[in-house]
Amino acid sequence: MVLNGGKRFRPNLLLSVVCAKAKEQVRNAFDVCLSVECLHTYSLIHDDLPAMDNAALRRNHQTLHCKYDEASAILVGDALNTYSFYLLANSHFAPSTIVELISCLSENGGIGGMVLGQALDCHFENTTLALDKLQFIHTHKTAKLIATSLKMGAIIANLSLDMQKFLYNFGLTLGLYFQIRDDIIDSIQDESISGKTANNDANKNSYVNLMGLDGAKGALKEYAELLQKDLEQLQTTGYNKLYEYLNELLELYLKPLK
Ligand code: IPE
Ligand code: IPE
Ligand code: MG
Ligand code: MG
Ligand code: MG
Repeated sequence: MVLNGGKRFRPNLLLSVVCAKAKEQVRNAFDVCLSVECLHTYSLIHDDLPAMDNAALRRNHQTLHCKYDEASAILVGDALNTYSFYLLANSHFAPSTIVELISCLSENGGIGGMVLGQALDCHFENTTLALDKLQFIHTHKTAKLIATSLKMGAIIANLSLDMQKFLYNFGLTLGLYFQIRDDIIDSIQDESISGKTANNDANKNSYVNLMGLDGAKGALKEYAELLQKDLEQLQTTGYNKLYEYLNELLELYLKPLK
């Protein structure tokens, strides 16, 4: 599942920060990138299980519970989850940096982030929630891991707490944008393009279900504008390279969806 592709969005965000601000740490950062990608992949494997979203296709391949069995899919997810923290614990950074990285990923990938978001997402199937509650779910299930990827890059690059916070908050906006875009992908994109089961959100609180396709596209545009504004704040001495790298990475995601 890890080798089956995927856009590697989260590792690329992390590397954008490290490449721009601490180039000499790029090689050491690879283990941290893999750690984030393993945690993300575990979340996808469990997300696709019959008890959750019940999806048969992921990253252009049959999901693990379809190709093998549910027990294997659950256990591969469990193994990737714990392996991601093994990778951090054994990464080539100072012990204090490693503890910060572990704390950040465990909080945002677990009960304070992705796991809570996924629990609410499943619990409130077939119950239409108000927009602020939907945003709470999307922020937790998706945005926090995206924000964390940027923050972990900032921790590795030893950036100030203010800058860590700025990048984390930028990541929360970016993550919400990413999940709105994902909700639209579910309703308009063919499986041959997305590589995953389409039209699977019928019972979900998604942007498309709450505000219709045009409403969701409108929200996406609003968030894209917010992101551009945030990014422009990086055009200051010392952060031009980060501005450039993030712009380059996000270009693909900010383009209108086909
Ligand atoms: C899919 O994430 C799940 C969401 C949080 C929307 P990605 O769209 O990053 O999936 P991959 O890693 O490219 O397969
Ligand atoms: C999943 O959101 C977010 C995760 C934490 C995995 P979705 O359920 O919308 O993700 P996809 O559409 O299956 O990739
Ligand atoms: Mg889901
Ligand atoms: Mg899903
Ligand atoms: Mg989706």
